[in-house]
Amino acid sequence: MASMLKQNKTILLNHAQRDLMRAAGRANAELLDYVRPHVVAGTTTEQIDRLVHQWTLDRGYRPATLGYQGYTKSCCTSVNDVICHGIPDKYELRDGDIVNIDVTTIVQGWHGDQSETFLVGEVDEEKLAVTQCAFDCLYMAIEAITPGCPVSVIGDTITAEAHRRGFSVVREYVGHGLGRSFHQDPSIPHFPNRQSKVDRLFPGVTFTIEPMINAGSRFTQLDRTDGWTVRTKDGKPSAQFEHSILMTEDGPEILTQTSLGPARGHRFTNSSDD
Ligand code: MF3
Ligand code: CO
Ligand code: CO
Repeated sequence: MASMLKQNKTILLNHAQRDLMRAAGRANAELLDYVRPHVVAGTTTEQIDRLVHQWTLDRGYRPATLGYQGYTKSCCTSVNDVICHGIPDKYELRDGDIVNIDVTTIVQGWHGDQSETFLVGEVDEEKLAVTQCAFDCLYMAIEAITPGCPVSVIGDTITAEAHRRGFSVVREYVGHGLGRSFHQDPSIPHFPNRQSKVDRLFPGVTFTIEPMINAGSRFTQLDRTDGWTVRTKDGKPSAQFEHSILMTEDGPEILTQTSLGPARGHRFTNSSDD
C-alpha cells in the first residue's frame, strides 16, 4: 500500500497579521544591522550574544532562543565547521574564521528569524566559495518560488546549485513555517523530498529558507556534551544564510532584508581583493 503523505497545518495570515510579521522581520533585520560591525577578530561570541540580548530587551522585544528547549543564549554563533546552533562562549573570533550569526526576535508575539555568515579578516578560497554558495542558493530559491508553488521548488533549486559547485546540502536541519510560533508547518527542506512536493506556498504563509551548505560531505555530528552544537562530520567548513519570507499574491516578500544587509547579487570578497 502506498504510504499517505501527511496533511500539514500551514497557517495563512490575513493582512493585519502580515503587517505584524513585517514588523517582527524588520526589527530582527535591524538587530543584525546593529551586530554586523561588531563581527571582527578579537570579539568573543559571548560578547556578540550580550549585544544581541541587550539590544532586544532595550526595545521591549524577546530573543526567541532564550529558554527555548533549554537553550540559554540569545543567538547562535556557528564558527567554521559548525553548521548551526553553535552556543556563544569565550571563543575569540580570529582572522580566517567564518561565523554564522542567527538571531530571532519576538515582537508583540510574532517571530523574525534570520542569519548571515560573516568573513572575519581574510579567509581561504574554500570558505569564501562555500559562503558565496549558501548566499546564492538562498536568493535563487527566493527567486524561484511563486504563489501556490510546491515547497519542493526550494530544495530542488538549492541542491542543484550546491552540487553544481561541488558542495553538499545538510538534510537533518531544515527551514520552517514561522509566525506566532518559532517552528511550525510547513517544513522547508533544502533538498528534494517527497512531502514538499505536496506542501504548497499559498499567499499568507510565512516561513524561513535557511540552506546549510557544506564544503565537504553533507553528514553532521551533534556535540554529545552540550547537546546543541552541530558540526560537519569531516571537519570541513559550512555556511548558512536565512531569511524570513512572506508569500504574497504577487510573489515572495523578504521580511528580514534591510538596505545595509547583503542583498541579491552580493559578492563576498576578501578585503584585499577589492
Ligand atoms: N534560529 C534557528 C532557526 O533558524 C533555531 C535556533 S534554536 C536554538 O530555526 F535553540 F538553537 F537557538
Ligand atoms: Co529558522
Ligand atoms: Co534562525
